[in-house]
Amino acid sequence: MVRVLKNFYRFARSALFALGPEEAHEASLKALECGIYPRPLKPDDRVLAQSVFGLEFPNPIGIAAGYDKDARVPDAVLGMGCGFAEVGTVTPKPQSGNSRPRVFRLLEDKALINRLGFNNGGHTAALDRLEARKNRGGIVGVNIGANKDSDDRGEDYVLGLMRFTSLASYFTVNISSPNTPGLRDLQAPEALDELLTRIMATRTRLVKDGALRRPIIVKIAPDIAEADIAPIVERLVAHRVDGIAVSNTTLTRNGVKSPLAHETGGLSGQPLFARSTAMLARIYRETGGKIPLIGIGGIGSGKQALEKIEAGATLLQLYTGLVYEGPSLISEIKSVLTDALKSSGQSSLAAIRGRHADYWAKQPL
Ligand code: FNR
Repeated sequence: MVRVLKNFYRFARSALFALGPEEAHEASLKALECGIYPRPLKPDDRVLAQSVFGLEFPNPIGIAAGYDKDARVPDAVLGMGCGFAEVGTVTPKPQSGNSRPRVFRLLEDKALINRLGFNNGGHTAALDRLEARKNRGGIVGVNIGANKDSDDRGEDYVLGLMRFTSLASYFTVNISSPNTPGLRDLQAPEALDELLTRIMATRTRLVKDGALRRPIIVKIAPDIAEADIAPIVERLVAHRVDGIAVSNTTLTRNGVKSPLAHETGGLSGQPLFARSTAMLARIYRETGGKIPLIGIGGIGSGKQALEKIEAGATLLQLYTGLVYEGPSLISEIKSVLTDALKSSGQSSLAAIRGRHADYWAKQPL
């Protein structure tokens, strides 16, 4: 079945790639809004299920932020067989983002460069859609960010938390997009301290007022300097974040062949795999495996998904791999992970998590 779907996507991909990247993205969202997407033929194998930060994930695969910025299709994403969906990045006010063209396909590299700059309809647009689907169940995370022209970026995250708290299964605090000038500065230990103090105090207050305690995940860049990893992780641990998402796109261009490599923006897809996995393993070791990690970056096959888990990931997210391989990638990953567990006599992903972390942590960034 995976093969049939793969062949079908080859045709669909030529049609989509005849369009510009943003037009193709919009066409795929429209298809999902109309219910045009493949459904899994069988339920998820129980070995793929995990309880993570208090949520029951039927499988570890999610779609990464940026695909569904305005919460248009979380139920279709779940319907395609993902174990969870993440919407956003949402900012308090609507934003049109940078001028076009701002997304580029690097075909030779199975990669994308984007400099979208948080184009989104603002909190209200996403809130209305999430409100309309709130009884449908499924894990839907909300990725929150700050407006480009905000005077107080910390306040934008606080607002995100307050407004979405009854609707988000979890929050991802995005401080790692390279396309909002200065945003990544929030990763600096002192700035991170201040931001997390405000975010955690807001959550405590919301819980006191009767809200459910929502997990808070922090999404980091793959471009953090070696010497900064330990102090950043120390802050994340000290503030007791529930998870760390590793990683966002990279500003590096190592190993990129395409002539579009010079375009400004964040690089995703195959060339990001090694770097983001090396960063993931460093964070896994630094946290002693005690904080769940979401492995993101360049997953384009079942084998690469398995490698992310072996490097230390508890959950996975995909974006660029879906553009190049199509939705059959979701079922391919599930069957590779299930086979890997069963052939080694293991009954859960936890049994293989981090078993190659030492190897990956030694790979250069
Ligand atoms: C992204 N990504 C992203 N991340 C985020 O936290 N908020 C966002 O709004 C976006 N927007 C976005 C747009 C586009 C076009 C792309 C390709 C990516 C980053 C994304 O979630 C992911 O971290 C990276 O793309 C790495 O994963 P892949 O694409 O290599 O699987």
